[in-house]
Amino acid sequence: MDILNNNEYPLEIEELEPKITKELMELFTGEHTGFVRVGPKGYLLPHRYTEEALNIYSMAIRPSDIFVASYPRSGTTWTQELVWMVANDLDYATSRAIPLTQRYPFLEFSVFVHPVMKKRFCQENEHSETNLKLIEKMSQPGSQIVADLPSPRFIKTHLPMSLLPPQLLDTARVVYIARDPRDVAVSFYHLNRTIRTQGYIGDFKTYWHYFMNNLHHWTPFFEHLKEAWAQRHHPNMLFLFYEELYKDLPAAVPRVADFLNKKFTEEQVHELCNHLNFNNFKNNRSVNFDAMRDAGIIVDESFVRKGKSGGWREYFDNEMTEQAESWIRNNLKNTDLRFQNFNS
Ligand code: A3P
Repeated sequence: MDILNNNEYPLEIEELEPKITKELMELFTGEHTGFVRVGPKGYLLPHRYTEEALNIYSMAIRPSDIFVASYPRSGTTWTQELVWMVANDLDYATSRAIPLTQRYPFLEFSVFVHPVMKKRFCQENEHSETNLKLIEKMSQPGSQIVADLPSPRFIKTHLPMSLLPPQLLDTARVVYIARDPRDVAVSFYHLNRTIRTQGYIGDFKTYWHYFMNNLHHWTPFFEHLKEAWAQRHHPNMLFLFYEELYKDLPAAVPRVADFLNKKFTEEQVHELCNHLNFNNFKNNRSVNFDAMRDAGIIVDESFVRKGKSGGWREYFDNEMTEQAESWIRNNLKNTDLRFQNFNS
C-alpha cells in the first residue's frame, strides 16, 4: 500500500513489515519510527523519508550542479574532495577553511537524524553553540539547504538514480563511486556502530545478514550500483571504483579532470594526490568529520577509518565468504559490472 498520500510522487512507498521493523529497531537504536521501501526496487530508508521524497524528486537541478553519488562507504568523501578540488582549480585554501560537509551538503541526511536523537544531541551539547549549530544543520532538509546555495552547487547523496530528479543526468553532472560490497559492508558496519544516528548494537555476522538481504539503509546494494552503471556512457556520468582510486590515484585524477574540463600538470596531480593520501586525509579536519566526533554524534572510531581494499577478509568466516561469493556472482550474472578484486 502506498503510504505517501501525495499524488505528485510517482513512486510507491510501502511500510516495512512490522515484525522485521521491530527487529531492526532493536538493533539500530538511532531509528525511532520505522522504515519504508521506495519505488519498484524497494529501496529501504527511514520512515521519515516520506517527508523528503517528493522534495528531493522534484528539486530544481542546475546545469552547473555536480553530484557525487554512491552506496555508503564506497569512498564518497574521498571522491567528493577530489571532485571539489578539481572543479575549483585546486583551491587548497578554501578546502582547508570550509569543511567538506558545508561545501557539499548531504541531500537526504536529515531523514536519518530522528527527532528523538536530535533532542538528545542538543541536550548533551547545550553549552556549545558550535555543536548546536552543527546539529541544527544536520537536521535541516538537504533539499532546502541546496536550494539556497549559490552555483555551482556540490551535492552528496547516497540515493540511487531512480529516487533523484529524472532530469538530473541530462542537466547536471554526476560522479558515481562503487566499491566491493564486502569492504562496503565491513566499513558500514563500523560506521553503523560508531554513528549514533544509526546506533547499531549487533555483531558483524548479523549486520551482514541484513545487508545482503536488502534489509539495510539504501539497499538493495546491487540495484543501486546497476542503475548508475547503466548510465555510465552518458556524457554527464563518470563512474569510478574505490579500487581504482586505491590502486592508482594519479591515473584517476586526469579522468576526473577530463570530465570537468580541467587540465593539470604532473606536479599539480602529484600535489593533489598527496592532499588526498589516506594519512593526510584522515588528519584533515576539513574532511574527516571530526566536528561530529566533537559533538558526540560519532563515537569511538573515526569516520575515515582504515582506507584499505580487501580488509573484509578479517571479518568473514568460511561460510560468509562462500555466501558472499555466490551472492555477488548471482548479482553480476546479467551485467558486465565487475569489481577488480572479484573473479566471476
Ligand atoms: P574503511 O571504513 O574501509 O576504512 P564514504 O566516504 O563513502 O563513507 O567511505 C568511507 C570509506 O572510505 C572508509 O573505508 C574510509 O576509510 C575510506 N576512505 C576515506 N578517505 C580515504 C582516502 N583518502 N584513501 C583511502 N580510503 C579512504
